Amino acid sequence: MASDLLQQLQAGPGVPGHIAVIMDGNGRWARQRGLPRHAGHREGMKAVREAVEGSIKAGIDILTLFAFSTENWQRPASEISALMALLEAYARKEKEELRRQGVEVRVLGELDRLAPDTRRAIDGIMETTEGGEALRLNLMISYSGREEILRAVRALATEAAEGRRKPEEIDHKVFEKALFTGGIPDPDLLIRTSGELRISNFMLWQLAYTEIHIPPVLWPDFTRQDLFAAVLDYQKRERRFGRVAAS
Ligand code: FPP
Repeated sequence: MASDLLQQLQAGPGVPGHIAVIMDGNGRWARQRGLPRHAGHREGMKAVREAVEGSIKAGIDILTLFAFSTENWQRPASEISALMALLEAYARKEKEELRRQGVEVRVLGELDRLAPDTRRAIDGIMETTEGGEALRLNLMISYSGREEILRAVRALATEAAEGRRKPEEIDHKVFEKALFTGGIPDPDLLIRTSGELRISNFMLWQLAYTEIHIPPVLWPDFTRQDLFAAVLDYQKRERRFGRVAAS
């Protein structure tokens, strides 16, 4: 079945270069089974592997995963530490396999809020995987779209106040470079699992013209097949970027 979908999308009109994912539904997955929430996050790691391997197979260039939002710092301390432990374990255990697969990992967000051990694990996965050419994997951690925009505004305002930049020079290109995602093309496709119809403060600038796919599947149940189905859905869309359709 997965290989049927893969063949179909390979025959289609081109795959999205950049897919971003809001991995939602871990808590509900756990609750449905009478398990603690962290069990859902643990199972969600399997889906991360599926998304990475599926992206490589489908020929996607960039996969961006929303792993921990700024708002998630307000969850109970036990859930935060379970999530941080999982991120660290992922970074330590999977870096060699990711390097072998040709995945280059970048971790983006307010990393100064993370504990030193988590920072070390993150630096380790970025160093080990540097130069991978099969897929660029962005893990968004301690990330919020509004905070990202504010940081960029502050940095550019400081440059202007210090006379290093003229305000009229601040255009789309300059602004984009000041975001965490500076230098990366905008996502072509956003997938949000678990059926929720929200952006939740994710990549607010970058998603301006992104196609959105919202399957009902809870994140821990997400497989490469779901990724291929999302790409097939994307291939049916007509992207106009605010213009009229080509006749
Ligand atoms: C949202 O589900 C998911 C998260 C807050 C965390 C996502 C983290 C992982 C999948 C684990 C590890 C990730 C990496 C990249 C190694 P929720 O808890 O909000 O679910 P709910 O809406 O059903 O409560």
